Amino acid sequence: MQFADFDSAAFLQNTWQKRPLLIRNPWTAWANPLEPDELAGLACEEAGVESRLITRRPDGIVLENGPFPEARFAQPEAAPWTLLVQAVDHHVPEVAALIAPFRFVPDWRIDDVMVSYATDGGGVGAHFDQYDVFLVQGLGRRRWRVGPRCDEATELLPHEDLRLLAEFEATGDWVLEPGDILYVPPGFAHDGVAVGDDCMTYSIGFRAPSRADLVESWSAHLADAMREDDRYSDADLALQANPGEITPEALARLHALVVEAVADGAAFSRWFGAYNSLPKYADADWRPEAPIGLRAMQTCLADGCELSRNSASRFAFIRQSEQAVCLFVDGQSFDCTGDAATLAERICAGGTLLVEPRLAVSVPVASLLAALVDQGSLAFEEAE
Ligand code: SIN
Ligand code: CO
Repeated sequence: MQFADFDSAAFLQNTWQKRPLLIRNPWTAWANPLEPDELAGLACEEAGVESRLITRRPDGIVLENGPFPEARFAQPEAAPWTLLVQAVDHHVPEVAALIAPFRFVPDWRIDDVMVSYATDGGGVGAHFDQYDVFLVQGLGRRRWRVGPRCDEATELLPHEDLRLLAEFEATGDWVLEPGDILYVPPGFAHDGVAVGDDCMTYSIGFRAPSRADLVESWSAHLADAMREDDRYSDADLALQANPGEITPEALARLHALVVEAVADGAAFSRWFGAYNSLPKYADADWRPEAPIGLRAMQTCLADGCELSRNSASRFAFIRQSEQAVCLFVDGQSFDCTGDAATLAERICAGGTLLVEPRLAVSVPVASLLAALVDQGSLAFEEAE
């Protein structure tokens, strides 16, 4: 899937994180990548798939969480409803392929692709999200209205499970056809209602860590490695006039204990790379039945086998020098130099991976690839 006509540099400059934008079918040839039945099938799976069903019954909006029994979709109810399935890109490579044209935003900012299916009049209701989203109309039609930027003070409807807006005044109102895209930055009110049945929308969602999550997770990581005897000390304690005072000197020393620990930029970078690449669904295990091992990997590489990235895996790197990178894959870090660094960058660039003979004979290259296959992040392409 690719765009025929889209100026990503202009988009970043004028639109990204600034204002909503309707983009009329920019694809070379739009083809809906998933059938409604396949989506329903995912929502019926017992493990590893997060799904929700929202029904607009006359007596109120009802939210139910999956998995759902198959009968639920065989005889659906008459009231408008919508099914939402999270991280479909992890399970369906054709849906993962939808992300490629949006990679003008770096991979570490990408979260997942949620897919919704709605019957006529179905939708989640007016709301705002904390994240940027591209809403790609896949099948059928949906009327989208967007409103102003909301914040913590914006009034919500009383509802146990849903954060719906009490008031919504649209500043934009469009009907999207297959292939059309609506970009919504964080915080902007939006409301999408299916126009007719068989309405499918693909939400390419981004992530932006909250300061609270960063501080909490980074400091928890640091604290794990700290020693019991690494603590406040005051061998130079001076007599104070009032023993009830916590003196500025004591406070400065206490504050320094914290600030010095969290201020290590190089350690933060390594931690963040690994943290951000953690699998979103910790219970998903894509490892092969038996580890491949270095020898078998070398044979496969010599035979010219191609490798591809697991759609559910997260890859990123940070550059340490011209010759060295640190590669992060699914929560693990790999220090790579020379040929292995070249390969790490190539893996992160995406696409299938055919390792040329010059690199294939390198032991660091083969051991990096074996480690990634063994942890389920890379797999050999199935022979045609
Ligand atoms: C939907 O696909 O119906 C909802 C997507 C969203 O509003 O974020
Ligand atoms: Co939304």
